[in-house]
Amino acid sequence: MTTVGIVGSGHIGSAVARLAIEARHQVVLSNSRGPETLADMAAELGPRTFAATYEEAAEASDIVVITVPVKVFPDLPAAALAGKIVIDTCNYGPERDGHIPELDSSSLTSSELLFRYILDAMLVKALNNICFKHLLSLARPAGAVDRCYLPIAGDSAAKATATESIDSIGYGVVDGGSLADSWRQATGTPVWGIPHGPTSNERGEPAGEDAIRTAFGTATR
Ligand SMILES: NC(=O)c1ccc[n+]([C@@H]2O[C@H](COP(=O)([O-])OP(=O)(O)OC[C@H]3O[C@@H](n4cnc5c(N)ncnc54)[C@H](OP(=O)(O)O)[C@@H]3O)[C@@H](O)[C@H]2O)c1
Repeated sequence: MTTVGIVGSGHIGSAVARLAIEARHQVVLSNSRGPETLADMAAELGPRTFAATYEEAAEASDIVVITVPVKVFPDLPAAALAGKIVIDTCNYGPERDGHIPELDSSSLTSSELLFRYILDAMLVKALNNICFKHLLSLARPAGAVDRCYLPIAGDSAAKATATESIDSIGYGVVDGGSLADSWRQATGTPVWGIPHGPTSNERGEPAGEDAIRTAFGTATR
């Protein structure tokens, strides 16, 4: 059993929390407004869940999922994240995040930008290419014929631990390389949302390993 910290308990954060609880992990929820605003969600998820501040969630957890708007990166608890394995689900959207020159010019990926704020964390990009509803509905145990695969990118050995963690909540992964390579799974690329079908279909469509590799292969920058 692992303790999974959720930094940003919105659509994706709460979906990951639910899958982690189903996989028998412990979960620490956090958001920008404080633990008291997460009491109902924590109660619904049961006794292996508690709500905390961002700092407390990071400190208490073996693996931390950062799932917030990109514009929030400067406010993340860098000291508490030092030495932690961190999964970054975040996608850049200027309409929500404002314009960030390094991302507009593609001189950095959004994960490389995040890494600049949390230099002592072991950062992995994953869970960013699938809609939260599909993330919930398409989770399958290892060996299922319709198991879904998701892209992962990262520079450190943390990628192996993140792979195990993602496996435990119902997904295989396809290695997309380093954080610098993670533009291949960013907003608007062939692997972003498309393999799982339109969001109007709430259940989504399973996408196997070959479909994800093919989508990677057609990405252009
Ligand atoms: N929605 C999806 O299906 C999906 C899929 C893949 C990736 N993503 C990416 O994952 C990240 C999270 O997406 P989401 O849809 O889960 O977002 P969301 O539902 O809006 O949740 C955002 C979380 O970030 C926190 N937050 C902290 N500072 C904030 C601020 N200044 N403005 C807004 N929220 C702030 C929120 O806390 P409070 O609740 O206290 O405000 C909330 O817990 C984004 O980068 C998104 O692009 C989303």
